[in-house]
Amino acid sequence: MNEQTLSMRLERVAAHVPLGARLADIGSDHAYLPVALVRRGAITAAVAGEVALTPFAAAERTVRESELESQVTVRLANGLEAIEPSDGITAISLCGMGGETIRDILDSAKARLSGQERLILQPNGGEQPLRQWLMENDYRILCEEVLRENRFDYEIIVAERTGPVLYTAQELYFGPLQLQSRSPAFLAKWQRLLRQKHKTLASFAQARQAVPEAKVQAVAREVKWITALLA
Ligand SMILES: C[S@@+](CC[C@H](N)C(=O)[O-])C[C@H]1O[C@@H](n2cnc3c(N)ncnc32)[C@H](O)[C@@H]1O
Repeated sequence: MNEQTLSMRLERVAAHVPLGARLADIGSDHAYLPVALVRRGAITAAVAGEVALTPFAAAERTVRESELESQVTVRLANGLEAIEPSDGITAISLCGMGGETIRDILDSAKARLSGQERLILQPNGGEQPLRQWLMENDYRILCEEVLRENRFDYEIIVAERTGPVLYTAQELYFGPLQLQSRSPAFLAKWQRLLRQKHKTLASFAQARQAVPEAKVQAVAREVKWITALLA
């Protein structure tokens, strides 16, 4: 992967960035996503935000070597602190981090969100708490995808603030739009997870020390939901 050839995962993220957007890519690492999009003429400008020094330096190098300093600004900053009002950001991508981390980044700097930005989120796990945050903050999920690459299942969640929205517990767990479209990648992901959950329940039953009942019940409820989904 580099700034010309993105992974399939980042290609699918790229497909959800509106044409002509001003993108803030938070946790950008090498800045491959914003640089690829600017090179293609798909976006007008970008901010690549990084909290850690080594990926920040890698992002600066990618931008410098692509001679895109006038369009891609790299900032060493925690989360949304990379965004300044004068950037006029219209889309924010947060990819390749846990869903809880993405949620915390959004939650800790809500004041920096105008509410006009499209959020393009690619959590590695923790999708349920992330969807919960979106619902609690009036974001509607506009698009969802599951894809598999290098033996990992990835989810992409696209959301915009539209006003109050209510999702059921199952919609928060599986994804409201995934539940409707039931794509092959989505169903295959949950088949794999069901096998894992069965193994977890079996290991609980054989554990030397009793596993707290609440924990067993929580996994048993997930098994019930997934079984019903796949029935
Ligand atoms: C696994 S990399 C993902 C890189 C790229 N977004 C992708 O999807 O390929 C996660 C990056 O997020 C950065 N990161 C984690 N927490 C962050 C935060 N609070 N603010 C900015 N960057 C953060 C890490 O330093 C790391 O470079």
